[in-house]
Amino acid sequence: MKKRPLVVVTRRLPDVIETRMRELFDARLNHDDAPLSQEALVAAVREADVLVPTVTDRIDAALLGQASENLRLIANFGNGVDNIDVQTAMNRGITVTNTPGVLTEDTADMTMGLILAGPRRLAEGARVVPDDLEWHGWSPTWMLGRRIWGKRLGIVGMGRIGQAVARRARAFGLSIHYHNRKRLPATVEDQLEATYWESLDQMLARMDIISVNCPHTPATYHLLSARRLKLLKRDAYVVNTARGEVVDEMALARMLEANELAGAALDVFENEPAVNPKLVKLARQNKVVLLPHLGSATIEGRVDMGEKVIVNIKTFIDGHRPPDRVLPAML
Ligand code: 8YV
Repeated sequence: MKKRPLVVVTRRLPDVIETRMRELFDARLNHDDAPLSQEALVAAVREADVLVPTVTDRIDAALLGQASENLRLIANFGNGVDNIDVQTAMNRGITVTNTPGVLTEDTADMTMGLILAGPRRLAEGARVVPDDLEWHGWSPTWMLGRRIWGKRLGIVGMGRIGQAVARRARAFGLSIHYHNRKRLPATVEDQLEATYWESLDQMLARMDIISVNCPHTPATYHLLSARRLKLLKRDAYVVNTARGEVVDEMALARMLEANELAGAALDVFENEPAVNPKLVKLARQNKVVLLPHLGSATIEGRVDMGEKVIVNIKTFIDGHRPPDRVLPAML
């Protein structure tokens, strides 16, 4: 590959990252940050040597079919790669990289915030003063939530982020339970005091709070299906900071409407940026907390992600294996 490849970046990135990219590459940046149209994406894959997409770009087989031979690397700005048809990219000899590790702690922090938000009525309470809602001062029985200390947290997907959530949740007095494709080594389970459930169904039926922390893959699409959601206790809460597609959003909304669940706190949605109108209505009724995909949204996190993207591109151009290659076994 050329020493100064044409790197097309689909969204605006932190200034320091864009400056460095301009120094190192022939970087085509997106100054106004508007998501690329389909037409613009087609033009990008036809011209670029390296494409830097984000979660908001759909890099599917049809798009990759229009890519020129020049496109050799897709350096995703993001950890999840469900926006990319990785198998098709690989079949075409295109390397795909992502940005693992650097957004773990931020996403786990936000997950912990959402674990608290439902039971402790954080979003609802935060509206009282600015929205001039009625507040007659402190009262022993007003706006009571539920205690989280001593409750059971079931983590679905115990990778980096799931484990970082577990570390925080232990400090809040939650008992840690998890379901994962693979059981963790005993030493890690011991450190986290985590109980493994081989059966997701059995775990769901016994938890007070569920946190979704697995990637979205064909195998996890609607993992929390309508049937599985029905297994949850009526007073359970669901938290999702992973991907909307892992939960059957419509089934979840219907259960919340019918008071078959205590609540949900969601940072991600099935059809972002569209949010199911039922969920919006439930949020206005304070039955769910909705955040606009903020899990990794810290300045530090986004700079770290950008640096990872640069390292991946640079090592690739220099003829080495980029450190964060996405391999088929991960999908
Ligand atoms: C990112 C995320 O902001 O990295 C991920 O998988 O979900 C987000 O936190 C987004 O993916 C950027 O592309």
